[in-house]
Amino acid sequence: MRKKVTVVGAGNVGANCALRIADKELADVVLVDIMEGIPQGKGLDIQQSGPVQGYDVRITGANDYEPTAGSDIVVITAGFPRKPGMSRDDLLLANFEIVKTAAENAMKYSPNAILILVTNPLDAMCWAAWKVTGLPKNRIIGMAGVLDTARFRTFLGEAMGVSVTNINALVLGGHGDTMVPITRLTNVSGVPLSEILDAETIAKIVERTQNGGAEIVKYLKTGSAYYAPSAATVEMVESILKDQKKVLPCAALLEGEYNVNGVFFGVPVKLGSSGIEKIYEVQLTDDEKAQIQKSAAAVQELVDVLQQKVS
Ligand code: LAC
Repeated sequence: MRKKVTVVGAGNVGANCALRIADKELADVVLVDIMEGIPQGKGLDIQQSGPVQGYDVRITGANDYEPTAGSDIVVITAGFPRKPGMSRDDLLLANFEIVKTAAENAMKYSPNAILILVTNPLDAMCWAAWKVTGLPKNRIIGMAGVLDTARFRTFLGEAMGVSVTNINALVLGGHGDTMVPITRLTNVSGVPLSEILDAETIAKIVERTQNGGAEIVKYLKTGSAYYAPSAATVEMVESILKDQKKVLPCAALLEGEYNVNGVFFGVPVKLGSSGIEKIYEVQLTDDEKAQIQKSAAAVQELVDVLQQKVS
């Protein structure tokens, strides 16, 4: 039987997730949105690309969750996007309600699904979805690190004039301005970054990566990025559906790893058919550890606000 993926939110990120899943022929997709006609219209439009693109999957739209029943994966993209000058954290309370409703409804119809969160502020939304659904921690995963490392690799590839596909980068921490690109462990086909770029150039690229989302928001003015976020999400979807066991940076519930406890945080994980199959802990320097703690504190602050909403 064909795999089934529900994508909640038929905005730019959600619709592009559906399109990429169809293009890769990974699964049938149900796009869900509260806006009447939008998921149906976009779904039909993507469906009608099939004969040209050569895919046979079914893409449908709905305003309720019944058609999503029996999904293998539920991707939640629904929420307000960032506007210029707005931080991801400003979105906290508004998006909490949206994610809560989406997660509860989706899991009612697909109790065995793996949940991938995309809505910002990402790490806090993962925690909220985990609290309201009570899912085991291997089945709640946040998309952030794949996007953040993709941005980091893009800028590094440009600066070095090498293929972005040869760059192995590690970005840890929360999806926000405190994310921690670990330059020491980043390399180009095994050649350390420090052998190719000077410290000042690396520092500039790190800063641009940390502000990668805001850079796009500034250009677009009315919304945030969606091509790279959807590509990153679908890499995770594919690894799970095909049990590829890719090691990707994702937000996972930490219980002591990296000295972080009780919050979702970006770390390298193995993604297979059971979701998060392993969390990898790497040895860090004192400086890196300090940056991790700072990033964890920023995530904890948001979770503390949400704690009152779920208790
Ligand atoms: C970004 C937003 C979506 O990083 O968080 O582009």
